[in-house]
Amino acid sequence: MPQDLPAWKQLMRLAALSIQSKLGDLSAATGGFEHSSFCVTLGNHKLLLDLSKQRLDQPTLAALIELANERGFAEQRRRLFEGAEINSSEHRPALHTALRAPYAQRPEIVREIVEETLQRFVCFADDVRSGERRGYTGKSFTDIVHIGIGGSYLGPRLVVAALQTQYPERLRFHFLANIDGEAIDRCLAGLNPETTLVILVSKSFTTLETQVNGASARSWFLERTANQKALSQHFVAVTANIEAARQFGIKEDNLFPVWDWVGGRFSLWSAVGLPIALAIGAAGFQDLLNGAHAMDTHFQQAPIENNLPLLLALAGVWNYNFLGVSNHAILPYDHRLALLPEYLQQLEMESNGKSVHNDGSPVGIHTMPIVWGGEGSNGQHAFHQLMHQGTRSFTADFILIANADHTHDVHQRWLLASALGQSQAMMIGEQTKSSHCNVAGDHATTTLVLDQLTPFTLGSLLAMYEHKVFCQGVLWNINSFDQWGVELGKQLAEPIFEQLGDNSALGQDTATKGLIDYLKGETGVMAKIVERTQK
Ligand code: F6P
Repeated sequence: MPQDLPAWKQLMRLAALSIQSKLGDLSAATGGFEHSSFCVTLGNHKLLLDLSKQRLDQPTLAALIELANERGFAEQRRRLFEGAEINSSEHRPALHTALRAPYAQRPEIVREIVEETLQRFVCFADDVRSGERRGYTGKSFTDIVHIGIGGSYLGPRLVVAALQTQYPERLRFHFLANIDGEAIDRCLAGLNPETTLVILVSKSFTTLETQVNGASARSWFLERTANQKALSQHFVAVTANIEAARQFGIKEDNLFPVWDWVGGRFSLWSAVGLPIALAIGAAGFQDLLNGAHAMDTHFQQAPIENNLPLLLALAGVWNYNFLGVSNHAILPYDHRLALLPEYLQQLEMESNGKSVHNDGSPVGIHTMPIVWGGEGSNGQHAFHQLMHQGTRSFTADFILIANADHTHDVHQRWLLASALGQSQAMMIGEQTKSSHCNVAGDHATTTLVLDQLTPFTLGSLLAMYEHKVFCQGVLWNINSFDQWGVELGKQLAEPIFEQLGDNSALGQDTATKGLIDYLKGETGVMAKIVERTQK
């Protein structure tokens, strides 16, 4: 157990000392930025991790690094890249790093299949972009509808939104995840089936939302085209369940595999990223992979005390396990990264929101805190009030892009100044004459700065967070690659679905039965179903 390790106990002692100092004083005493920021050059780009607003003095950092050593970090990292079965509850490796490694550096067992699939889907994307691949009436595609949820949605949506404006193509992207009928209505409204390409992304090809949305999208297409054959030119699937996708009606050429050794939330580098390739082209997609691979190389080779993902993970563990912080805000100060908080919520909370160790025993310590956030500077006029004057402790990552793509220099300067002003206020606070105006400060934050937002730098950033997640899983001795907790609610929804449509609520607890009965009465579900079946 991590808490039995000598380094853990040492960190408990250090935490008791640390909280006696003000964060601002501690930061100044430790040499601030000079000693606590880490800048790496990846390709032609620079990525800065600034920990100078964290409660990290040298003894603490040394003890955290010792904790990583005592947890066997280097060995676990080797096992990750080699494809060992680190997802022990599902008996699988987690080989997302192989998807972005150059051919010769991929584990041999996946080398060919990764290459073949990558070439197929990026060529497919370029053919759609160039207009070589067209719809059934010969018209070029104008709209891409991506249907998927969770890891089969958040990554592609984030990257397309972040980078699309750099590639001014004529394709428009529509992401559909939610099972809410309102979502599909809005998604398909105004689309012309002749020029729409639908991508179904589901590793399992059994996920309720994607199945229901996929079936409705197929009906929408067939109702408007009355052409069953045309379906094969307009529907594409990315899945590990090839047979189910065939049965849906996807033709062989339009089937792109993913594999059980790629976790959903780590899958944007695979064919799950097809919309990304459609948005930024094969070359852009390769840059994204290269950026992620550069981070993989850094993660594997950089000394432990300069290792960005590990340092990020250690700072988190220090805050959550020793300083009592229970929530973590993601604050991208860049409109292009507005979706990053949502993406990281899944990556971090689905991966490390666990309460048993790898061997199934209870952890007995806290694991992943709540991740939330929103783009700056909007949040300053909303939830930052609580951050500055509320009673809850938190930590935050500020994510900044130094050079904007636009030419509004004044905007950019204010954006950056606002981010720095916020993290400064969170660190130093202010005591005023009126208690109503006091700002407590003493909240630890991390600042990340990319020199530019490109496919390469975005790839590096996302890979860094992936490895942070892995490192924290190692430090807590939990499996970051399964997600059994999501299953129960899905199973319980099945009888409720039936019961909303019939006369019974058998076997339900009284609270749930009450709601089933109330909804039936309010929505007239029964009456509508009877009416439709009579038609
Ligand atoms: O329900 C959780 C989950 O399994 C995620 O882990 C996954 O990313 C998402 O559902 C979608 O799964 P699939 O790609 O199989 O449709």
